[in-house]
Amino acid sequence: MISGMEQQLRALASRVRAARSVTVMTGAGVSAASGVPTFRGPEGLWRTFRPEDLATPEAFARDPALVWEWYSWRRTRVASCRPNAAHEVLARWSQDASRQVLVVTQNVDDLHLRAGTRDLIRLHGSLWETKCFNGCVAGVRAWRDEDVAAPDRLPRCPHCGGLARPAVVWFGESLDTTDVERATRAARCDVFLTVGTSAIVYPAAGFARIAQARGAFTAEINLESTPASSLVDLSILGAAEDVLPAIDRLLLSN
Ligand code: APR
Repeated sequence: MISGMEQQLRALASRVRAARSVTVMTGAGVSAASGVPTFRGPEGLWRTFRPEDLATPEAFARDPALVWEWYSWRRTRVASCRPNAAHEVLARWSQDASRQVLVVTQNVDDLHLRAGTRDLIRLHGSLWETKCFNGCVAGVRAWRDEDVAAPDRLPRCPHCGGLARPAVVWFGESLDTTDVERATRAARCDVFLTVGTSAIVYPAAGFARIAQARGAFTAEINLESTPASSLVDLSILGAAEDVLPAIDRLLLSN
C-alpha cells in the first residue's frame, strides 16, 4: 500500500515527466534549510524587524545607516550559507535540455544562482547588488557589491556621488517591468510549481492563477497550507529540500 505522500509525489513526477515546459516560483522557504531566515516563519525577519523601518524608500531616506546596517547583517548571514538540495535539483532541471524549466524567485539571496540555475528570473532583486538611491541615469542599473557597509562610510553612487541603496524591491515599489514580463511569459507552461512561499505578496502570488488559467497543471510544496493551497491542483505538505529530491529521484528512476 503506497502512502498518500508517495501517491502525490508520483502524480507530480508523472506530470513533470510529460511536460515540455515547467515553471517554478520559489520563496524564502526554499532557502530555509540553508540557514537563511524566512520573513514570516517562527524566526522570520518580520517577527523581529519592522519592514516599514527597513524595507521602504521612506525608511532609507529617514535613516540610511540603519537600513544599510540591516542589509549588511543579512549579507554576512547569507554569505555563510550554501545552496541546499532544493536549489541543486532546480539548478539541474534548469540545465536539462529535455524540457524547459524556468525558475522565478522572490528570494534576494542568490542561492539559486550559486547552485548554477540557468536563466533565473529574480522578481525582488538581489542582496548582492546596489544601485543609486537618487536614480541617476547611469546609477539606475544595479552593480555587483559584496561588501559589508561601514556605518561611517555608506556606499555611494559612483556616477553621481549620491547615496547608493540595496538593489532589492522594497514595499511600495514596483518590480522591474522586464522581470515581470519574463515571469508572465514563463506562466505559459505545462506545469507550474510554487515552492516555499506564503503566497501573500503580489504580483508574485498571482502567477499560479495566471498559469492555471492558461491550462497549466499547478502544484504547491510547502510545510503548511497557504492561500494558494485551495487554488492549485495538488498541494504537497513537506519540506522543499526533501520533496524536490524525491520527485527528482522518481524522474531519474523511470
Ligand atoms: N520547505 C518548504 N516550505 C517552507 C520551508 C521548507 N523547508 N520552510 C518554510 N516554508 C514555507 C513557510 O511555511 C511559508 O509559507 O515558506 C514560506 C515562507 O514565507 P515568507 O516568509 O512569507 O516568505 P516569502 O513567501 O518568500 O515572502 C514573499 O515578502 O517580505 C517580502 O520581499 C519579501 O520576497 C519576500 C516576499
